[in-house]
Amino acid sequence: MDVFGSENIYQGRSKLKLVIVVVALMIGGFSLLYTNYLVRILAEREKGMVQLTARSIEFIGNESDPGESIELATDIIESNNSIPLIWTDEKGHPISRRNINTTGMTDEEVMALLESKVQEMREVYEPIEIGSVSGKPQYVYYENSELTSTLRYYPYVQLSVITILSLMAYLVFNYSRRAEQNRVWAGLAKETAHQLGTPLSSLMAWLEYFKSDDRLKDDPVIDELGKDIRRLEMITARFSNIGSVPVLKPEDVGASIADTLNYLRPRISKKVTMDLINRLPAGVKVNLNRALFEWVIENLCKNAVDAMSGVGSIQIEIQSLRDHRIAIDITDSGKGMTKSQMKKVFDPGFTTKKRGWGLGLTLVKRIIENYHGGRIMVRRSEPGKGTTFRIFMKTSETTRAAEPQQVISDEQLA
Ligand SMILES: Nc1ncnc2c1ncn2[C@@H]1O[C@H](COP(=O)(O)OP(=O)(O)OP(=O)(O)O)[C@@H](O)[C@H]1O
Ligand SMILES: [Mg+2]
Repeated sequence: MDVFGSENIYQGRSKLKLVIVVVALMIGGFSLLYTNYLVRILAEREKGMVQLTARSIEFIGNESDPGESIELATDIIESNNSIPLIWTDEKGHPISRRNINTTGMTDEEVMALLESKVQEMREVYEPIEIGSVSGKPQYVYYENSELTSTLRYYPYVQLSVITILSLMAYLVFNYSRRAEQNRVWAGLAKETAHQLGTPLSSLMAWLEYFKSDDRLKDDPVIDELGKDIRRLEMITARFSNIGSVPVLKPEDVGASIADTLNYLRPRISKKVTMDLINRLPAGVKVNLNRALFEWVIENLCKNAVDAMSGVGSIQIEIQSLRDHRIAIDITDSGKGMTKSQMKKVFDPGFTTKKRGWGLGLTLVKRIIENYHGGRIMVRRSEPGKGTTFRIFMKTSETTRAAEPQQVISDEQLA
């Protein structure tokens, strides 16, 4: 089940992504084909122009009577202002050229340039033969104009620009969506804390009033009321912390977990055992916001209990790792998860429970990763066997020592 229908949204989203990619590829492919087509037409046209130039050169060479026809032929040659070409003798030695930039070069340099150009041009297009008076053939070598050559690369430039723009748009969109989600989370939490504040202070005032009443002050109900009010205060503190930048203090992570287990002990079935194994050297502290961190442990333990049918065990083991890191493993003997469930557990709205919201682990991940700079993952889970969640956190720089610490067994928990 999925209370937000988020699975559909995710599926829809990946379909949309596929459609966008396919459309982008189609646009890219079409642009490539069309540009190739244009380049072919232009190249054809340029070849025609070169042929015309070659015929004109031939005509001028063979015509002895300089008249209007020669003028026309000269006009044709001069009208080509874009296609680079070189006119050579039968051995390929340059005689003349057009549209090749040789400004500022000495005669030798020009010759060297033209000869290397002839080599280049020979690779691209067959030269066009000119019949000459001397009976020896001459040739016109050519290449495409700058415009046509540039156009060839145009679709690649276009594709790169489209890719870069889409990537940027995606990043910006993703970033702004996440920023918006963060604002909604924080705003909702802050507002909840704020709204809880008013009835809470009124309840506290009532409690004080009852305590001052001689008829009521020894009533056990007052004690219970006090506990509930403290619990409400804690909940308000959690919401208020998650709605603002939480204050982190170097804390004894083992003590914080022991407190949470003590709080949970009377609230869960006696047939579920809870053990804490703290292998941290004494004095090791972790920068924590206790209100939020205890919420994490509570959520993980509640999920563990939910995964059991009333009987089972929860074991929390804390150990130090290299590089000032610690690992907290929360292992249960519950029903475990399939591979596909494991991938989705941290997604908001993912739940397999009738009355679940699918928010517990989303919150847990947020608290550990965004607020404490740690990391949380499913270390292992097997259907029918159980699950281990692992939290990585950094120790605070303040203290360091060597002794391994205590093991708290279920019996010692209140
Ligand atoms: N220890 C566990 N063992 C087996 N499955 C688990 C365990 N922890 C979480 N899950 C699975 O992950 C899902 C999501 O957990 P999450 O805590 O985010 O939401 P929930 O418990 O279903 O609802 P709620 O918002 O009330 O916490 C659960 O519905 C369950 O299928
Ligand atoms: Mg849960």
